[in-house]
Amino acid sequence: MKAIAITPSVAGVKLVERDEPRVEAEDDIKIKVLRVGICGTDREEDAGGRAQAPSGQQDLVIGHEMFGLVEETGGAVTRVQKGDYAVFTVRRGCGNCLPCLMNRPDMCRTGKYTERGIWGQDGYQTEHVVDKEQYIVRVPRDLESVGVLLEPLSVSEKAIDEAVRVQSARLPDFQSTPLWLFGKRCLVAGLGPIGLLAAMTLRLRGAIVYGLDVVDSSTTRPQWLTAIGGQYVNGKTITPAQLGNTTGGMDLILEATGVPLVELNLLDALGDNGVYVLTGIPGGDRPLQIDGAEIIRRLVLKNQVMLGSVNAARDHFQMAVEDLQSAMRSWQSLVQALITHRYTPGQSTQAFESHEADEIKTVIEWSETS
Ligand code: BGC
Repeated sequence: MKAIAITPSVAGVKLVERDEPRVEAEDDIKIKVLRVGICGTDREEDAGGRAQAPSGQQDLVIGHEMFGLVEETGGAVTRVQKGDYAVFTVRRGCGNCLPCLMNRPDMCRTGKYTERGIWGQDGYQTEHVVDKEQYIVRVPRDLESVGVLLEPLSVSEKAIDEAVRVQSARLPDFQSTPLWLFGKRCLVAGLGPIGLLAAMTLRLRGAIVYGLDVVDSSTTRPQWLTAIGGQYVNGKTITPAQLGNTTGGMDLILEATGVPLVELNLLDALGDNGVYVLTGIPGGDRPLQIDGAEIIRRLVLKNQVMLGSVNAARDHFQMAVEDLQSAMRSWQSLVQALITHRYTPGQSTQAFESHEADEIKTVIEWSETS
């Protein structure tokens, strides 16, 4: 079968041949891959950045945002059956620490996890994949057109969930609003798929959503944000400090830019007792000069929390399924419009390397391959 692979540290993707995987264990599930999304992490891998091949292999099959059809299950599988739509999660645990033993490899304590398509395990940009039942999430039929968005949405879900849990544990007034996010000022920075999906989730929870990017307000992504009731903030004309002053400061900031200077400057928009969750993973290692004392002073004097969030557990995928269904009920055509570009596996170089202004999510369509 065909697969799209990279050689870590070498730029460029290539089509390779792989043996079709088989159901061998009782809890194995085989999926026919229908489509797989491409994100910033994939593009970085394609550019020769962060990636690791499975041990003993030179190449890594990439792709971690999958969506497919269950084609065969081992005898003990109960969560899905043949003909269901489903996705597999991304991270596989180290097998040693408590979070991993609890199927929470997203919180692995040893760092010895693997990630399909990114770190030490082949990914999903291929025709068929097999994995264990504990990593499967069944996708309802009404999400067929948008199920490929579940992985990036799960990353946003985890980030929001973490922020809300932290606030629930420490804010004396948390209980006064049963749904804490309702009416809260939330800023999403970086309006790529993670940012837009986070904005969507926050709107579903009734938050006042600001979305920051540096593109013209007439372009696709700000327009999408406005259509779901968010307010666009052009970072070229408004600084985070001005935004903080004019709005009274954010209760929650979710960062998805991966640009270190922006990530730090955003603290200027955070209000008293605010929570700031970072999801962007900066590439490169250019040193940054910052006013450390001022940052620390503000965090302390304003009771602010800054936390990092990576990856997502099965439960976050489950939350993503529920929110994607709610979003489809409110904004079906908008949600579908998030998938802007579709390519065949044979067009993978173009898919990974072209970046058009109106692009939100690019996917590779595998369904017509076999
Ligand atoms: C993926 C996560 C992964 C992270 C770090 C992101 O693009 O969505 O699943 O944990 O990269 O490798």
